Amino acid sequence: MGFVIAVDGPAASGKGTIAVKLGALYGYPVLDSGLLYRAVGVKVLERGQDLGDEAAALDAARSLDPAELEQPRVRTRAAGEAASRVAVYSPVRRALREFQQAFAAREPGAVIDGRDIGTVIAPHAPAKLYVTATPEVRAQRRWKQLTGQGEAVTFEEILADIRVRDERDSARADSPMTMAADAVLLDTTEMTIDAAFDAARRIVETARSRWETAKG
Ligand code: DC
Repeated sequence: MGFVIAVDGPAASGKGTIAVKLGALYGYPVLDSGLLYRAVGVKVLERGQDLGDEAAALDAARSLDPAELEQPRVRTRAAGEAASRVAVYSPVRRALREFQQAFAAREPGAVIDGRDIGTVIAPHAPAKLYVTATPEVRAQRRWKQLTGQGEAVTFEEILADIRVRDERDSARADSPMTMAADAVLLDTTEMTIDAAFDAARRIVETARSRWETAKG
């Protein structure tokens, strides 16, 4: 395994921005694993199927084409909601695992952001971050992003979405919202994006020195 950087955390915690910046810093490819679940949710809806239909979600996951991650529709509020609905199915999670693990195996390294990267997808990742912030601050960031994309939505609606999503993402026994024991917690509530990235970079640099020493 190369130098895998796992960036986990709840919705709109800033993990995506941090992951992209880390990828640019090290020259590694970046995978936003949330897009996989979003694309599955979008596909179920586009096929006129029900998000509560596990078999339909599994079929959408198995037939997923990486090109589907590029559609603008996967970045909408509705896609986020659909993603968290299909993400509760263990068979769907398993179907998406291979793609993510192949990405993690890329040399000389890769950055993946999500919920379960440090715990399930790449438990041996040498660098693990768990990025969080209060629901209010996360809602504020997501609201800015979505209104910037032209969606008509209020802050209160987004805050309610975030609370429902946190609940759903952490409700199950094999919950993806669990911080890996060896991850470093980064609370970005009071931080600008520059400050958050700087803190993330320092955490990753420490992990990198340790990894290089261990490699010999
Ligand atoms: O990070 P995001 O908002 O794009 O994620 C959308 C949903 O996908 C989220 O509510 C839960 C799910 N998800 C997951 O279960 N595991 C991941 N590794 C990434 C996302």
